[in-house]
Amino acid sequence: MTRLQNRAPVGIDLASSVATVSRTYVTTPIYYVNAEPHLGHAYTTIIGDAITRWSRLMGTPTKFLTGTDEHGLKIQQAAEAEGVTPQEFTDRIAPKFAAAWEKLNIANDDFIRTTEQRHKDAVAELLQRCYDAGDIELDTFAGKYCVACEEYYQDDELIEVDGHADCCPIHQRPVQYFEEENYFFRLSRFQDRLLDWYAAHPNALTPEHRGNEALGLIRSGLRDFSISRTSLEWGIPLPWDEKHVTYVWFDALTNYLAAVGFGSSGEDAQDYTDWWPATHLIGKDIVRQHCVYWPAMLMSAGVELPQRWAIGGWLLVGGEKMSKTSGNVVNPLDLIDDIGLDGFRYYVLAETAYGNDGDFTYEGLVGKYNSDLANNLGNLAARVATVVEKKCGGIGTPPDPDSALREAARSAFADTAKFWDDLQPSRALDATWGLIRATNGYLEQHEPWKAEPGTAVDTVMGDALEALRIVAILCSPAIPDTAQAVWERIGMRGRVDDQRLPDAAAWGRYEPGNTVVKGDPLFPRIKL
Ligand code: MSP
Repeated sequence: MTRLQNRAPVGIDLASSVATVSRTYVTTPIYYVNAEPHLGHAYTTIIGDAITRWSRLMGTPTKFLTGTDEHGLKIQQAAEAEGVTPQEFTDRIAPKFAAAWEKLNIANDDFIRTTEQRHKDAVAELLQRCYDAGDIELDTFAGKYCVACEEYYQDDELIEVDGHADCCPIHQRPVQYFEEENYFFRLSRFQDRLLDWYAAHPNALTPEHRGNEALGLIRSGLRDFSISRTSLEWGIPLPWDEKHVTYVWFDALTNYLAAVGFGSSGEDAQDYTDWWPATHLIGKDIVRQHCVYWPAMLMSAGVELPQRWAIGGWLLVGGEKMSKTSGNVVNPLDLIDDIGLDGFRYYVLAETAYGNDGDFTYEGLVGKYNSDLANNLGNLAARVATVVEKKCGGIGTPPDPDSALREAARSAFADTAKFWDDLQPSRALDATWGLIRATNGYLEQHEPWKAEPGTAVDTVMGDALEALRIVAILCSPAIPDTAQAVWERIGMRGRVDDQRLPDAAAWGRYEPGNTVVKGDPLFPRIKL
């Protein structure tokens, strides 16, 4: 005790290992409401949630946005197929996304629907600015269009599938031929400006290999793209020519600005720059729209470009992207019933390096659960509580300031922070798990369960409790409910997610005299 009082908890050596930002605005793609939420949608949303929670732990004011993409031909056709209006259709599906995110413990601050007035106002404002800048012009267009992608394709991009020529390379279904008068966004004018901007902001695209794909798209030459249709009804009209309805991507991308008040006016007007620019989490299939179209649109409109784009791979099922069309949809809520919410969240975050494709299998899910959660974290929490109960009268003691675990805790925090900051959740969690492994190893080395009660055992257990306290904080962005359970079992008060890093990770903060409770196993082993 005296030794502890003589030495202040060390926060200073931790502070130097982390970057500080003044605020963070994290977004997910907005999901099409023609399908119900599936594992592929949950993937990016859980990653966004965990990044947000980490940022809040670091004391950074953070806003997290998700939502639904509700306009366009795809939705119009899905509504027609069910004999309802598009509005009725979207009003039925959008709440299913919001409800799924609640079940997945997603801490989003806002949920935007593109059918909301605030979104329509923002789209009108952005369109008008680009039009006034001379970057939107009327032209005639003929081309091959994939309704599922809501995207035109060039002939050389199309593939043959089962004897059908001209199929979409992603959906493997025939494209449709359209010819009409459209407004065009003059993307071709932006090639140099985009390349210059990315050269000046080398960390904007992450991970690097995905960023290089985006830059490759720009280098290969940019074509103007159509932004409006006269044949489409379900969309937002152009402010200067109401016969035309804007085409999905110009509409959809603007959600990120709409949610922070861009285009708002009157008494409710908000300054969108309070939160803008954003960190966008996107899938590799929407890189062209987010990393090429979107920054060019923003340049044209005189809006600052996003802070970062984190480009994820796909979670494949049986080697294919999950989609309604492929019939391999996995419902995340079914998985929670089997493996628990945090078991599922952990798998999504830890199994695959962000940016790479992952292959979802039930065996993989259970294997990850058993090895990292049941055997590592669950086992550590259980054995610490058991020994403290049996050998220390159920009361925690302060850690040794010079414990061998102190360095493990310091480096686990530094690496965890670095990898969250790099938007690499799997690596961040591996760094946190490094401390769990080190603590299990420390206990195995000292074998306190074999020793007689006394100071030696108390100190070893104090070290383990302190390590577990730090683990609870560091893993809370990924598995918030479990982190809180661990926090309470070791006798800590309040909420683990109210802790503030780096200070809270300093060695020596465990409060002596806490009552430690064992409780039920956090992660009972699952047999396949
Ligand atoms: N509505 C557009 C995005 C507009 S953002 C301004 C859209 N919607 S989507 O619902 O089809 O897909 C949204 C995101 O979910 C995409 O980034 C896509 O990569 C991601 N996923 C959909 N299925 C996926 C997997 N199976 N795996 C991982 N993510 C995938 O595109």
